[in-house]
Amino acid sequence: MSETEKRVNLTINGKPITAPASLSVIQALWHAGYPRVKSIGCLQGVCGSCRVMVRRADSHEVTMELGCQLLVAEGMHVSFLVFPNPTHHTYELTGISNSWEVQARFHQIFPEADHCRHCGGCDVSCPKGIEVERGVELAAKGRFSEAGDLFIECVMCDLCMTACPENISPNHVGLFARRVTAYFHIRPSNLINRLETLRKGDLQVEI
Ligand code: SF4
Ligand code: SF4
Ligand code: FES
Repeated sequence: MSETEKRVNLTINGKPITAPASLSVIQALWHAGYPRVKSIGCLQGVCGSCRVMVRRADSHEVTMELGCQLLVAEGMHVSFLVFPNPTHHTYELTGISNSWEVQARFHQIFPEADHCRHCGGCDVSCPKGIEVERGVELAAKGRFSEAGDLFIECVMCDLCMTACPENISPNHVGLFARRVTAYFHIRPSNLINRLETLRKGDLQVEI
């Protein structure tokens, strides 16, 4: 960071901060003296723990973003979001004995999925631009492979879960879709061979 680098003024959680324009929101907090805690986030846009609500100076629109991926800007207002409530949708994959049961079990585990209002709240809230509503719709129709593909980039930030007025937990619908797709498909041969090598104790590790 050079002495001449442009600086911007913004507020984070209601506190005014001045920081170089090249910093992310998280880096701006550190720059302002907030403690740096290790091992609680990825800083690479994949863990979803740095979700923030943002309003830019030139817009009245509020967007949901990831603080480690968002560069600070003049007049920006940022609020970190904390969601204390975990999903109430729980299950064990081992409790589903074969792929014929998947759809029925899905509707037992996620009974709300059929009640999607198509309000689009989940799509708007997703910082990864995922077609969340479409994913829920596909899963409700039993099209788990297609639904799971839509959620590949999901970082489980829970923003869609919080936005959903029907308590569907759309991100967990996506996770379920990805899990059952992998669980009930034949594993790739290279993975099977590697596990077999491990099982036999034949894996050579070069140090
Ligand atoms: S699908 Fe939901 S949990 Fe996943 S990244 Fe988008 S908002 Fe976050
Ligand atoms: S927020 Fe919930 S009800 Fe609205 S479209 Fe998304 S899944 Fe459907
Ligand atoms: S810290 Fe992991 S997504 Fe930002």
